[in-house]
Amino acid sequence: MKKQNKYWIPLVLACSLGMMTNSAMADVDALVKKCADCHEKDGNSKNSDTPSIAGMSSAFFLESMKGYKTGSRPALKLKDKKEDMKDVTNKLSDADVKALAGYFSKQKFTAFKQEFNADLAKQGKQLHKQYCDKCHSSGGTSTEDDTGILAGQPAGYLKYSMDNYANGKREMSKKMATKFKAMQEAAGNDGITQLIHYYTSQQ
Ligand code: HEC
Ligand code: HEC
Repeated sequence: MKKQNKYWIPLVLACSLGMMTNSAMADVDALVKKCADCHEKDGNSKNSDTPSIAGMSSAFFLESMKGYKTGSRPALKLKDKKEDMKDVTNKLSDADVKALAGYFSKQKFTAFKQEFNADLAKQGKQLHKQYCDKCHSSGGTSTEDDTGILAGQPAGYLKYSMDNYANGKREMSKKMATKFKAMQEAAGNDGITQLIHYYTSQQ
């Protein structure tokens, strides 16, 4: 008997694990459909007011979704849509959000194609180096800081999120707030515009 058990238990475990993976995979497809209308199936947005969510770290993704659900992060209602991110996250379980984080973090981020002013981008690059690169490293392209992806995001979304920070509608960590304020004191509101041109110039 003992000998039989030795092979039987791993076999049962392997079968049930296999079934779990199959059903989880099917779920992800259905879940992604709920996002594709605004973020596209591969997470690379085609709308200037909607961020691309491809390739961002799972930690940042989970934190963002939690923020919308609890209301600590404001949600924008797009003109032609019925739902905002608060409505979207309200309908998702923790397991759904985890599965989506796994899926979108594996998609390849593609920079949004858009116009920019090269002179403003140059000034923005200096500001970024001095005040932002510490936590948004490699010019805002890195995902290792768990702070999202800034380079190549659409200008409409960048302006919306920076304005939210500037008006206090979206909370910043204390350390980011210190740097953000120092940047504003040094460059004024033009600083935000210059930073946006720098991030959008990275294509
Ligand atoms: C009706 C349009 C719409 C749908 C559907 C939608 N989103 Fe969003 N999403 C947005 C908009 C607009 C923003 C940015 C504005 C804001 O903060 O509300 C956003 C922001 C996000 C962010 C934050 C990104 C960042 O860089 O901070 C994440 C993560 C996200 N969405 C994930 C999802 C997922 C996952 C789904 C599907 C379950 C989904 N969204 C469905 C419109 C949508
Ligand atoms: C001390 C670290 C730190 C510094 C310095 C910092 N940030 Fe951040 N930043 C964060 C963290 C952490 C987040 C994610 C948390 C959140 O959602 O608010 C973030 C998020 C953001 C986002 C939102 C990204 C998204 O997709 O939603 C923008 C835009 C941003 N930062 C811009 C800046 C700019 C511009 C500067 C420089 C003036 C800056 N940050 C400096 C830590 C930092």
